[in-house]
Amino acid sequence: MQSEARTLMKELREDHRNMSIVLELLDGVVEHASSGKDPDFELLDEIMRYMTVYPDAVHHPKEDIMYAQLRDQRPDLAEGGLDSVLDDHNEIAALGSALRDEIEAINAGAAVRRQKLIEDVSGYVNRLRSHMAWEERDLFKRIDTMLDDEPQEFDVAKFEHIKDPVFELEIEAGFRRLLSSLKQAGQPTG
Ligand SMILES: [Fe+2]
Ligand SMILES: [Fe+2]
Repeated sequence: MQSEARTLMKELREDHRNMSIVLELLDGVVEHASSGKDPDFELLDEIMRYMTVYPDAVHHPKEDIMYAQLRDQRPDLAEGGLDSVLDDHNEIAALGSALRDEIEAINAGAAVRRQKLIEDVSGYVNRLRSHMAWEERDLFKRIDTMLDDEPQEFDVAKFEHIKDPVFELEIEAGFRRLLSSLKQAGQPTG
């Protein structure tokens, strides 16, 4: 099944808004841990699990399809940095799963220095935030230009059925802590 490109772009921008909200929760965790307190490890665990099952597994692969089409259809718009976006996605996924493993190990009783955890979480937040800012400021605009010139479709059929488990489905069982933190922060989900 083909997906109308403008609808897909709207969804990708919506994903960014949702990811930014989750990154703000991570800022809160860093702030809390930096003041010498123990962070909410259950929340951290749910956040990193969410990042690996939705943004890394669905959002970035959808973008990869879109960037491949840009390269194919409009090589004139595909210069200047576009080549590094795939590596960026892979590196963000690797950072995210390393962080998820670190938090799982802590929850299983491993001793990890608080300072190391703070550095790893802030490194992850900064990396993902600057990646999204680059896409919005530059890459998404190139896609908009391509679509303004000629409407087209992206084939994202293999991801079509996968919903965001937190913002679209509100799966209480797996993300109870994350959902309640979002509600406390006044963020609408579902
Ligand atoms: Fe991306
Ligand atoms: Fe993105």
